[in-house]
Amino acid sequence: MNKLQHRRVLLGVTGGIAAYKAAEVLRQCQVMGAEVRVVMTPAATEFITPLTFQALSGSPVHTQLLDAEEEAGMGHINLARWADVILVAPASADFIARLASGMANDLLTTLLLASEKSVMLAPAMNRAMFDDLNTQKNIRQLESQGVVILGPAEGVQACGETGMGRMLEPEALALAVAEHFQTGELAGLNVLLNAGPTREAIDPVRYISNHSSGKMGFSLAQACVEAGAHVTLVAGPVHLPTPSGVKRIDVISANEMTEAVMSKSKQADIFIASAAVVDYTPVEIAENKIKKSASEMQLTLVKTTDILTKVATEDDSTFCVGFAAETDNLETYAKDKLERKSLDMIAANWIGRESGGFNSDYNALSVYWESGFQELGSMPKPDLARELVALIAKRYHEKNTI
Ligand code: PMT
Repeated sequence: MNKLQHRRVLLGVTGGIAAYKAAEVLRQCQVMGAEVRVVMTPAATEFITPLTFQALSGSPVHTQLLDAEEEAGMGHINLARWADVILVAPASADFIARLASGMANDLLTTLLLASEKSVMLAPAMNRAMFDDLNTQKNIRQLESQGVVILGPAEGVQACGETGMGRMLEPEALALAVAEHFQTGELAGLNVLLNAGPTREAIDPVRYISNHSSGKMGFSLAQACVEAGAHVTLVAGPVHLPTPSGVKRIDVISANEMTEAVMSKSKQADIFIASAAVVDYTPVEIAENKIKKSASEMQLTLVKTTDILTKVATEDDSTFCVGFAAETDNLETYAKDKLERKSLDMIAANWIGRESGGFNSDYNALSVYWESGFQELGSMPKPDLARELVALIAKRYHEKNTI
């Protein structure tokens, strides 16, 4: 159920009796894997305390527009940037009216005005207030501006009346937020990925490997699931949880990774090679621990199979995306790999720079294909993965409709 894994949900709570249910909305989003932060209007704090949301979210709750301490910590612009989506639940008639008229007279309306992210509102109010022409006009206007309106539901209301105006149940709201992220760009396609390092044994205690953490590849696997693909992930030795909906095959060595990838590549529409496969492996693995008596020692290494080239040349119909990890001449080396390995696309990243690379939570990519190029700037790997997957989907569909 980790449909909101790595998603940042900003929950806005406005003044209405359904505000008490917002605590459960927060919990449901968390259960689905989201990180949640809360902004309350002053009226909402009359119905439920900020402390409740602080305890549940583990983060300070923001209530004031002009609070020097909060602005120094995470001001409204930063909060707007932090969120992937803003869900206002409950959204009162007054709040909806203020938002529709473009007012910025409290933190939540100001933040929404400053935000370019998706906004979802869960109206909750007395049925007559909901039916009122002004409320209906405001809702239609917000919808025409791209705001997603969730509900309301019909039923018995806190005021004792029955009709439209009940806030949707917390689980339904969390699910609606999750569905919002399902892009469908790769709907029904089989995507095969590899991620992480490989480990090449020298003897029973030593091995050759590299600094890959698997974060980039696991983020890509998650982004492919969100895009509607059936995803198989061949993972080297890393300590990362499997993204929800992903079939994972664990391997250790380059040889095992080659076998696992080749056993699945025939069914793959797309192969994304983000793994840092070790290029040379010892010819022999010593049976016992090598003694360190000699002052020097020599290891004979042999090249590992180039998995990416093998898939690209043996499975002509598979759309192949390679990675290039470079410390210098990024563009030249990346373009050389694109051509030499017969790839459809290559995503190149710098190693040893501030923009990210190995083991970092951030990365930046220069993406090349035969007739084009796109720069994806430094950002958290889950966000970068979504951008790269959108680009892959676009190129894949272009190639397959020609
Ligand atoms: O795992 P993280 O810590 O998140 O770091 C991410 C990353 C830096 C590992 C990732 O973004 C990345 O760059 N992965 C590719 C690393 C690499 O091995 O690059 P390369 O330039 O040496 O290889 C080029 C391509 O050939 C890669 O797609 C690689 O998977 C593939 N290859 C290489 C050798 C080999 N024997 N078989 C291969 O398939």
